[in-house]
Amino acid sequence: MKEVTIHDKTFEISINSRTIQKTIDEMAITMAKDLHDKNPLFLVVLNGAFMFAADLLKHFDFNCEISFVKLSSYVGTHTTSVVRELIGLDEVLHNRTVVIIEDIIDTGITMANTIPKLIKLEAKEVKLATLLFKPKAFQKDYKIDYIGIKIPNDFIVGYGLDYDGLGRNLPDIYKLKQ
Ligand code: IMP
Ligand code: MG
Repeated sequence: MKEVTIHDKTFEISINSRTIQKTIDEMAITMAKDLHDKNPLFLVVLNGAFMFAADLLKHFDFNCEISFVKLSSYVGTHTTSVVRELIGLDEVLHNRTVVIIEDIIDTGITMANTIPKLIKLEAKEVKLATLLFKPKAFQKDYKIDYIGIKIPNDFIVGYGLDYDGLGRNLPDIYKLKQ
C-alpha cells in the first residue's frame, strides 16, 4: 500500500518492512555483542514497541529475560508533557543490566522520566534501544545506546505505532502526508 487513511488523515509509505527488518538485523548484531554474557532484562515499552520487540528479540540466542511495561503519554499527533507512571514492572532490577526497548524517541521526555526510575530500583546499568529516533525533536541529552533509523520530524504510524489507536498492525511505516 502506498497510502493509508486513518481517522481524518492520509499517510504515505515511508519505511518498508524490508528496510525495517534489515535495520533490526544490524541492531541485533551490535546488541548481541554487548549483551550476550550479561543475562539482560529487556523491558519492552507497550504498546508501541510490541512488534519491534518481537522481531528483535528473536535474533538472540543467549540467556535473557523479557518483560513488559506501560507508560504511554501520547494523545493525537503531539507529545503531551504529562508522563504517566511506569506500570507492570514486577522484576527485581538490583544488579541487572536492563535494556529498554522503545519504538521511537521523539522529544525524549518519556525516557528522561523513566530511566531515573529504573536506576533508583538499583539496576546495574540501564541501556536504551529504539527502532526510530527524531534527532530534531530530541530535547534531552541522555545517551541512546542503540538506534535503528533516524527520521525527520514527521508524525508516523505503522509497525506498532498508532494514530489515536489505529495503525499499529501495519507492517510498514507511514508518514503523515503534508
Ligand atoms: P517522547 O517522550 O516525545 O520521546 O515520545 C515517546 C513516545 O511517544 C513514543 O514511545 C511513542 O509511543 C510516541 N510517539 C512519538 N512520536 C510518535 C509518532 O511519530 N507516531 C506515533 N507515536 C509517536
Ligand atoms: Mg512508545
